[in-house]
Amino acid sequence: MDRVLVLDFGSQYNQLIARRVREQKVYSEIVRHDITPGEVRARGAKAIILSGGPASARASGAPLPDPGILALGLPVLGICYGMQALALLLGGRLDGGRHREYGDATLHLKAASPLLAGLPETSRVWMSHGDDVSALPRGFKTIARTPAIRRAAVSDEHRRIYGVQFHPEVAHTDEGGRILANFLFRVADCRPDWTMRSFIHDQVEETRRRVGGERVICAVSGGVDSSVMAALLRRAIGTRLVSVFVDNGLLRKGETKEVRRALGRRLALNVVDAREEFLSRLHGVADPEEKRRRIGRTFIKVFERAALGRGPVRFLAQGTLYPDLIESRSALGGPSATIKTHHNVGGLPRRMKLELIEPLHELFKDEVRALGRELGLPDALINRHPFPGPGLAVRILGPVSPERVALLQQADHIFIAELRDSGLYDEVWQALAVLLPTRTVGVMGDERTYENAVVLRAVTSTDAMTADWARLPDDFLARVSNRIIREVKGINRVVYDISSKPPATIEWE
Ligand code: XMP
Repeated sequence: MDRVLVLDFGSQYNQLIARRVREQKVYSEIVRHDITPGEVRARGAKAIILSGGPASARASGAPLPDPGILALGLPVLGICYGMQALALLLGGRLDGGRHREYGDATLHLKAASPLLAGLPETSRVWMSHGDDVSALPRGFKTIARTPAIRRAAVSDEHRRIYGVQFHPEVAHTDEGGRILANFLFRVADCRPDWTMRSFIHDQVEETRRRVGGERVICAVSGGVDSSVMAALLRRAIGTRLVSVFVDNGLLRKGETKEVRRALGRRLALNVVDAREEFLSRLHGVADPEEKRRRIGRTFIKVFERAALGRGPVRFLAQGTLYPDLIESRSALGGPSATIKTHHNVGGLPRRMKLELIEPLHELFKDEVRALGRELGLPDALINRHPFPGPGLAVRILGPVSPERVALLQQADHIFIAELRDSGLYDEVWQALAVLLPTRTVGVMGDERTYENAVVLRAVTSTDAMTADWARLPDDFLARVSNRIIREVKGINRVVYDISSKPPATIEWE
């Protein structure tokens, strides 16, 4: 499989570069900016992309790639900071601050180059830089400019080294996809052989080889990641996969039934009813982090019991994705390590002496969805909104009780069902209801009521790192509110959350 390495100089767009390359069906991964030429060769790289980054390449100690990498003879594309780093390394000069650009700019073609083949004479690009290249290294020519800078795209066609000052990976660059495709296919001669089918084939082989005759256990939450992971392993090792679904009593209304229907047979799912255990452990607990801790610990206990009851296992499989693992070790203030513990099984591998298997660790979320489709999982499952491990416990503010779980489940169910019925479900990233810990006054018929209030929250997002409140239509919100107040005994007020993240978060606890 052809492989393109993205050297990480800390840009917030790095993941996007890797994704855009993969969208062209070429496998791409993000690596440290100080990777050695030996490592590049060992990974079998077919081409190299130097990413953007927040530093100024003119600053002393600015991160630069190992010059030996440029001597490997591989095609190189430098983006923004990556182009400046290339220019410096190869003997060019940079200018600081004279031609700062941020936002849209118009790119004008200056000279023919395979990198820009097929582009119109002018096109819109996205810029974000303080420095620019004031003198080209020997062997380079300018192939495009903008009104503000002379060297918006440069090339050394002989050595197949290219630089673009703008960001081809962002949607604001109209021809970004074509430019990356040109680099991959016209310049680097990559083959478009990264497909979900090839991924399944490779993973099935790899898993069979690694697992041998042993057994693997995994927790399935009903969410996309763990379901796809389990379906993939099931295909690889059949009944040597033990899938466990824990009903913790904090799930959505009808959730266990739905999961059983979608996955029960397919995965030979072991459903463990631990509702009472979880709810009794949460009795009287109001602090959100304490709720999370108790749920996590209880999960481990329940899961371990379920595992031990099913004979010897050697491996634990988790649905960890690539974005969960990407770790920038460059001291640049770039994307920092965010390693999530999935499904609350964080402490398990060491405790149970299990080896970890993470078959999705190379994939982005949209690729996991494509994989799920290829594996034949139902669309309704693949397009599901994310749901937190601690479930409704962090959506019931204050202490959790079976009655309050039931109350929230009913309100949440109406909200989600209405979203589905109106075709709005897929337009929002995540929708949820929150039960407030105070009661409010209302009037019903001639009676004064003093009941609970729920919050509806729906957000748009691409990765949950930032989010905006969804502009749901008034008449839709009115219908949901009416239904909840009319149908759910114990709720007399519905409010809609109009906070963005940051500064708010998606969940209330
Ligand atoms: P916040 O509330 O931090 O949520 O904006 C971001 C995303 O993470 C989910 N979330 C969790 N998922 N365990 C999980 O598995 C948790 O404790 C947890 N807390 C938040 C949240 O639903 C949203 O998708």
